[in-house]
Amino acid sequence: MNTDDALKNLRARLAHAKSVTVVTGAGISADSGVPTFRGPEGLWKDFRPEELASPEAFTRDPTLVWEWYNWRRELLATKQPNPGHEALVALEKSIEQFWLITQNVDGLHATAGSRNISEIHGNIWKVRCTECGVIEENRKVPLEILPKCSTCQGLLRPHIVWFGESLDAQDLRNCYAALETCEILLIIGTSGLVYPAASFGQVAKDRGAFVVELNLDPTPNSELVDITIHGRAKDILPRLLP
Ligand code: OAD
Repeated sequence: MNTDDALKNLRARLAHAKSVTVVTGAGISADSGVPTFRGPEGLWKDFRPEELASPEAFTRDPTLVWEWYNWRRELLATKQPNPGHEALVALEKSIEQFWLITQNVDGLHATAGSRNISEIHGNIWKVRCTECGVIEENRKVPLEILPKCSTCQGLLRPHIVWFGESLDAQDLRNCYAALETCEILLIIGTSGLVYPAASFGQVAKDRGAFVVELNLDPTPNSELVDITIHGRAKDILPRLLP
């Protein structure tokens, strides 16, 4: 199916759908100038995840890890939501039951105005105390290294789910509820390689959802979806709106 026909089909379905779930990855923020993780320009080409984004790395060298997150916070502080994020805000307003599951930690969906969101990998603008566990929003750029908890003086860490860590249980329950009940699932701008998000398409498909992928390139999800649309999120998503 060509892109025009695929969009026409999807627009018609969205016009009648009562429940829609969306899964996003770094590709939607790429259109705001945020680097993705994989691919020739991706962050993991120059940095090794296990040296920067794991609990072991933080125990070994918290200064190095915070320097990397400060660099990313400085970069992200200059970025704004794009028409792809904005189209999802408009879609949320037009659908009775809408849930947005994002792997992105940049907070751009919330800044754009999305409301029903699970940020399953955390949020780079939040910090968590390694001693008392308190979670706070902190938009200071750069953060002093090493940052300390205002309540107990414990060492703060980024509120991010690192490699080898579990996702928040309540977040996961919300995600599965949204995946198991949606009529349409849109999977946008993710390489589909990181679990559990990589399995979300199959979960919705098994419950009878119409599953659509929007990406620049084929991914493992392309095998199971009902429609693949190739293109940039910022160009395609506004075309889904009535
Ligand atoms: P990846 O970097 O793995 O994949 C980005 C995907 O977006 C690729 O499939 C690209 O083809 C696609 N893409 C790029 N630009 C696009 C555009 N303008 N429009 C549409 N698609 C585009 O990013 P994720 O799949 O999000 O974990 O990565 C998953 C997780 O791996 C991340 O959340 C991160 C990382 O390690 C944490 O931060 C914990």
